[in-house]
Amino acid sequence: MARKNDLSDKELPKAKLDKKALEKTKRLFSYIGKHKWKLYLGLFFLLLTGATALLFPLLLGKLVKTIENKDFSDINRIGALLILVLIGQSIFSYFRVYLFVNYTENTLATLRQKVYAHLITLPMSYFVQKRVGDLNSRMSADIAQIQDTLTTTIAEFLRQFILVTGGLIFLVIISPKLTLLMLAIVPIVAIAAVMFGRFIRKTSRKVQEKIAESNTIIEETLQGITNVKAFANEYYENKRYTLSTQEIIKIGILGGKYRGSFSSFVIFCLFGAIVTVIWYGVVLASRNQLLIGDLISFILYSAFVGASFGGIAELYAQIQKAVGAVERVFEILDEKAEPLQIDGQNGQLVSLKGQIEFNQVAFTYPSRQEVPVLKKVSFQADKGQTIAIVGPSGSGKSTMVSLLLRFYDPDSGEILIDGINSKNYALTALRNNMAIVPQDVILFGGSIKENIAYGKPGASLEEVKEAAQKANALAFIENFPEKFDTLVGDRGLKLSGGQRQRIAIARAVLKNPAILILDEATSSLDSESERMVQDALDNLMVGRTSIVIAHRLSTIRHADKIIVLDKGNIVESGTHEDLMRLQGGLYQSLSKLQNQVTVG
Ligand SMILES: Nc1ncnc2c1ncn2[C@@H]1O[C@H](COP(=O)(O)OP(=O)(O)O)[C@@H](O)[C@H]1O
Ligand SMILES: [Mg+2]
Repeated sequence: MARKNDLSDKELPKAKLDKKALEKTKRLFSYIGKHKWKLYLGLFFLLLTGATALLFPLLLGKLVKTIENKDFSDINRIGALLILVLIGQSIFSYFRVYLFVNYTENTLATLRQKVYAHLITLPMSYFVQKRVGDLNSRMSADIAQIQDTLTTTIAEFLRQFILVTGGLIFLVIISPKLTLLMLAIVPIVAIAAVMFGRFIRKTSRKVQEKIAESNTIIEETLQGITNVKAFANEYYENKRYTLSTQEIIKIGILGGKYRGSFSSFVIFCLFGAIVTVIWYGVVLASRNQLLIGDLISFILYSAFVGASFGGIAELYAQIQKAVGAVERVFEILDEKAEPLQIDGQNGQLVSLKGQIEFNQVAFTYPSRQEVPVLKKVSFQADKGQTIAIVGPSGSGKSTMVSLLLRFYDPDSGEILIDGINSKNYALTALRNNMAIVPQDVILFGGSIKENIAYGKPGASLEEVKEAAQKANALAFIENFPEKFDTLVGDRGLKLSGGQRQRIAIARAVLKNPAILILDEATSSLDSESERMVQDALDNLMVGRTSIVIAHRLSTIRHADKIIVLDKGNIVESGTHEDLMRLQGGLYQSLSKLQNQVTVG
């Protein structure tokens, strides 16, 4: 958990704000769609809030000037005007914020949905190259940055721009001399303060990183507490943690020094600047070159300009980050997706018989061009047959299955299903006719019922129960107090390997596929649960074409055909009896090896 947060907290990289970047950002606005008017209206209210904000110093100055001019008739009129401006500004602000949030939420919902829908239809080769955890936190951090920018940053940026330019105009009108003095000091101090602030933030980020580091030590030791204790390494871990926390102290204290200097700096320079401006303003007033009311307006405008000026740099950085985020999000959208149907129609109309033929199939993973994984692999499976694939690990067994599922396409040769090149089927329809039970079943966070129904979304509890029954899973599920509503997955009940396997089998039963794929489905089980699972698998295989990858040869003795794969080539094939007769064959030697192991 902690690590996930670290990733998203990390500073997002900034993008250069050049023409190309802005072109790309324009694409984002195509997602606003029918909400565009909210943005425009929001901008209009933004302009109004800026304008009313600029009226304040002017009116306040005027109010004070009534005393200087001894013209008291205006006091109440100006006071009322001020209140009117106040009311106006609060109303405008409300609508500005509301409209900006509204259009952003709508835009981002569309964007999120589009990106997610696109992401899950990307081909396997994409997910192999990208680290999934990374992709996930990047996506959320990037979209959060875009969200912040669209709701507040852009609006703030524009508002401060209005305040700086408008404020400067008023300053010059009030007193060019005083403006000159003010401009000679305030922007420099403001910029220095911003730089200093940024530097301080960097050191405090370092402290954060160090803290995260030492938290990782805690996390690691607690997760691996069995190891720590078994190796009696409490001393070693304790030292590691102590060292790490000592570093936090050092950096933290250094940060404290910087922060202390920063407040001295702010007090001296910023207030110094204010004092200088006021002092000179009073000098001008004493020479009758400036009214006190104008001086008050002047100070307030200077404060606006100074504050906005200081803020603009940070806002600019935020916008740069957002542009970078937009680029990365669109990078995902520009990846070529698989031609899947995700409209829920699922192409269920195609119902395959399940005859399979590999014809001279050769394949190399796109990410590892130098190693051919399959070399001219050919075999046939008739409808309803069980074909076993055996061979040393790394020989390409799982790859054959990936090609059958069309996670990848062969470099040469073809895969025929019911006599038709599998490329000619709609991808969704093709996969709807297949089910796989892998070695390691990962359950989704949710109830057992939901996990089984994943094989047939919308299945009734009756159907789910029946499937569980066929998968030898009903007994253990009914033993849980909450039965089919028992929560499993990350936060739920921990199921044993054999139990998870049987849930996966129930899922496959519900899907009722023409082609069933078992990729070492029983390899990681103890012999007790292996028997239960094997039993369920034997039920499941009836009446379907099954491709069974097996580690333990004893489980595939009765297959219609056994294919022995070695380094991407089919080196032997036939029934168990055929292969056992092959003197010096790979199957024979694998078989002997396993018998020795089980006997020994
Ligand atoms: N996604 C991948 N990208 C690159 N190489 C891979 C990928 N998956 C598997 N390989 C490589 O392909 C070869 C065959 O792998 P695999 O089909 O998983 O073997 P098996 O299932 O027979 O153990 C191995 O050398 C493996 O390292
Ligand atoms: Mg494998």
